[in-house]
Order: sequence, then structure tokens, then C-alpha cells
Amino acid sequence: MAVFVTGGAGYIGTHTIVELLENNEQVVVLDNLSNSSEESLKRVTMITGKTVDFYQGDILDSDLLDNIFTTHEISAVIHFAGLKAVGESVEQPLKYYKNNVAGTVILCQAMGKANIKNIVFSSSATVYGDPASLPIKEDFPTGATNPYGQSKLMVEHILTDLANSDPSWNIAVLRYFNPVGAHESGLIGEDPNDIPNNLMPFIAQVAVGKREQLSVFGNDYDTHDGTGVRDYIHVVDLAKGHLRALEKLNTAPGLVTYNLGTGQGYSVLDMIQAFEKASEQTIPYQIVARRPGDIAVCYAAPEKAKQELNWQATHSIDDMAQSSWKWQSSNPNGYES
Ligand code: NAD
Ligand code: UD1
Repeated sequence: MAVFVTGGAGYIGTHTIVELLENNEQVVVLDNLSNSSEESLKRVTMITGKTVDFYQGDILDSDLLDNIFTTHEISAVIHFAGLKAVGESVEQPLKYYKNNVAGTVILCQAMGKANIKNIVFSSSATVYGDPASLPIKEDFPTGATNPYGQSKLMVEHILTDLANSDPSWNIAVLRYFNPVGAHESGLIGEDPNDIPNNLMPFIAQVAVGKREQLSVFGNDYDTHDGTGVRDYIHVVDLAKGHLRALEKLNTAPGLVTYNLGTGQGYSVLDMIQAFEKASEQTIPYQIVARRPGDIAVCYAAPEKAKQELNWQATHSIDDMAQSSWKWQSSNPNGYES
């Protein structure tokens, strides 16, 4: 039996595949390489000494899915494939709804047809919008403010309806907080196509000399130093959470939803400081206006995952900064290096 990983050539996918292979799982990957390259999977093999069955193709291609599901014996699907740039989703909403929402519907249809009914879905803390209180628990109200967030929320609703319609489906909805860092080998990591939208890859590119300085989006929030606070989680911790979620699905729980975060919030200036320490460099920055759509503070209540998945994050902010720096400094141009 194999685990089928959509979007497996991407940032979180590669780190999760390393954990799967090290846990002696067989892995089949489908990725259209729209935001990744096959080099990332070669690096996974360098780390683990093991290979995956790779298909370059799209989750929208139902014939391909049917073909994969008849060729391989699949026990469960981890569904990472998706587009994730918030700004782009505002400009091109249909692209996001087609890829993220229609793509998931087509995937689930093919799974149902092949009688594969265990799926782990990559959701996001963005579905909580601007929370009324903190820390954020799984039963808090949801709401999204951009098409990317809407697409995650829509898929959550679709999966809920699917589980209600047929109790033989087992679905783990994982709401990630802010994934950062890289595998300790420095061989795999986050490799943004363009100018990074997110904080950590931007800081890393400033440190390595690819960008002149960081713009800090606002220092007038109601936080300890005025800059935005987030729950940064090491991508290897996050990856391990997926293996625990797969184990949970084997107990036939129906649909379950978990926050994957540390429960600890750090500000933009905290992250700069940690990165300066890790890279032994100064990170030049300037304070600019707030980014529209940003919230002040966001961090998880991670207890549900701890109790029900026996999972918790173990990596510190220094581990996050050090591993990010190791990846970025040894691969200044990402997988093109
Ligand atoms: P990523 O872009 O590195 O990986 C996604 C992968 O999916 C890419 O390799 C891309 O080529 C592939 N892909 C996209 N559309 C596809 C399609 N139609 N068919 C086949 N492959 C397709 O992103 P990531 O950071 O690894 O994120 C993985 C998942 O986690 C995404 O669904 C994302 O929305 C979600 N998520 C990410 C974050 C984050 O900050 N990185 C936070 C919350 C949730
Ligand atoms: C962003 C997305 C969110 C997505 C998440 C994880 C927006 C509005 N939200 O959230 O939907 O789920 O990424 O992929 O894009 N910051 C700077 N300068 C920068 C970049 C960021 O100061 O150049 C600050 C932000 O204002 C924020 C913090 O750093 O306070 C983290 O930003 P980011 O990494 O983009 O994550 P989120 O804003 O949490």
C-alpha cells in the first residue's frame, strides 16, 4: 500500500515525503510542477536513499487520477496541491477556485470511484479570519477575506458534506499556522518562484544578499513591539503532524479538524532577531505601512492535536531560523543553484 501525495514536489510536500519514506511508507506523487521542480524530489532521494513514483500532471485530470489509482494500491491521500498566493488570488480568483476547489472535487470523485476514502487536507489558519480572542481553537467561527482563504474554506465545507453523506470517508483537515524553516540537511526548503510574499523567505533572501532590505508592514499594532505576531511552526514538525493524522484516519474517525501550530506567537522583529543570530548578519529593514488584510496577532491553541494525535511541535524559533539559513545559504537560487 502507498500514500498518494498531491503537490508533493512543493515546500511542505517534500518535507512530509521525507518523513513518510523514513517511516517506510511507499509514496506516489502527483505534481504539475506549477510552483516547484522535480529537483526537489531528487533531493528527497538524496536525504532518504529512497525513491517515490512521480507523475507530472494535474489533479484536474480525472483520467490520470483513475489511471494512478488502478496502477497503485493507495491507502490514503495527502492533498497538498494548491495555489497559495493571496495577492494573486485577489487578481485571478477563478484560477484559484478552479485549481483549489474544482481540483479537490475531481480528486475526491476519483478517490470515491477507486474506493480510497482516507484523505488529509492542507487547510490554513487563514480560515479563522481576524479572531475575536486568542489562542485560536478549532471551534472558533470561520470566515475568509480573500479568494485563497475562501477556497480553503469552501473545500472544508465540501469535505464536511462528503463525510456527512458517506460515513466511510475519513478526513483530516489540518489548519497550518505559519510554516517556516527547512530540513536539517539544507537540501530541501522553501523556494518561492518570485519575490516572496511571506516573511521568512523574504528575510532569508535579504540575508543572502538577493534583496536589499525587508519592509516591515506596520509597527503600530497592539503587540509587544508593535509588529504583527504569528505562530511560526517548523516545517519538519508540520510534516510529522501529517503522519499522525494518517494514523488517526486508520481509527475511522470521520471528519476531524486540527490546528497545527506551536501555541506561541512571535513578532516580525523577533523573527528578524532570530535570523540575525542564525546568520550572523544584520538584516536591514524599514518600517512601512500595514499590509491590507493583515491581522495583528494570530496563534493556535494546539491542545487538540496534542491530545488526539499525540503530536506537538518541538522545534524552537532558533531551529527555524538556523535551518532556513542553512537552506538559503547553501542554495541561494533555490533548486536552480
Ligand atoms: P507549494 O506551492 O510549495 O506546493 C504546492 C504544490 O502543488 C506545488 O509543487 C505545485 O506545483 C503543486 N500544484 C499546484 N496546483 C496543482 C495541480 N492543480 N495539480 C498538481 N499539482 C499542483 O506550497 P506549500 O507551501 O507546500 O503548500 C502546500 C499546501 O499547504 C497548499 O495547499 C497550501 O495552500 C497549504 N498551506 C500552505 C501554507 C504555507 O504558508 N506554506 C499555509 C497554510 C496552508
Ligand atoms: C499570509 C497570508 C495567509 C496565509 C499565510 C501562510 C496574507 C494577507 N495572508 O499570512 O493567507 O495563510 O501567509 O502562507 O498574505 N511581513 C512583513 N514584511 C514582509 C512579509 C510579511 O512585515 O515582507 C509581516 C506581516 O505583516 C505579518 C508577518 O510578517 O505580520 C507574517 O507574514 P506572512 O509570512 O505573509 O504570513 P501571514 O500574514 O500570517
